[in-house]
Amino acid sequence: MAIRNIRLEGDEILHKKSKEVDKIDERVEELVKDMIDTMHKYNGVGLAAVQVGVLKRIVVIDLYDDNGPIVLINPKIIKTKGEQEVEEGCLSFPNKFARPAEVVADYTDLEGNLIRVKAKELLAQAICHELDHLDGQLFIDKIIPGTLEYVEPELGKDEK
Ligand code: NI
Repeated sequence: MAIRNIRLEGDEILHKKSKEVDKIDERVEELVKDMIDTMHKYNGVGLAAVQVGVLKRIVVIDLYDDNGPIVLINPKIIKTKGEQEVEEGCLSFPNKFARPAEVVADYTDLEGNLIRVKAKELLAQAICHELDHLDGQLFIDKIIPGTLEYVEPELGKDEK
C-alpha cells in the first residue's frame, strides 16, 4: 500500500495522452492498488493513472456505494445518450456544464475480463471525467464557452 503523489494543475503531464495497457502484470496490479489507496486518501470519486504520473489507460472510480472501487483498464465510451447538467470540480473552478446523461463503456478489469457497463448520473459523469484524463483533457478546458460570463457593471444604473 502506497499513497502516490498527485500531479496538480499546471503539470504538463496532465495534457498528455495515455497509452493502452497491453499486459496486466504485477506492476499494473501494484499501480491499481496504489491508485485506489490514493483516491481514498483524498476522498476522490475517481482517479486516472496520469494523475499519479503514469501514462497508462487505467482509471479507478469509487462512488462509495455497494459496488466498491471499479477498476477500468483501456476503457472506451462506445455510446452516449442525452445530457445532464452537472457540477464538477474542483473547488477553485465551481461551474456547471453538460455531460451525457448515460454512457455505455467497455473496459477490461484487473482479472482481464472484458466488461460493458451502462452508467447514469454520477457514474456516467465520473467515467467521462476520468476518460478525459486519459486523453490529456481537463474539465476546466471543456467548460462550454459562454457559460461563464464576466459583465461590466452598468455604470450609473443604481444612482438614481
Ligand atoms: Ni480529475
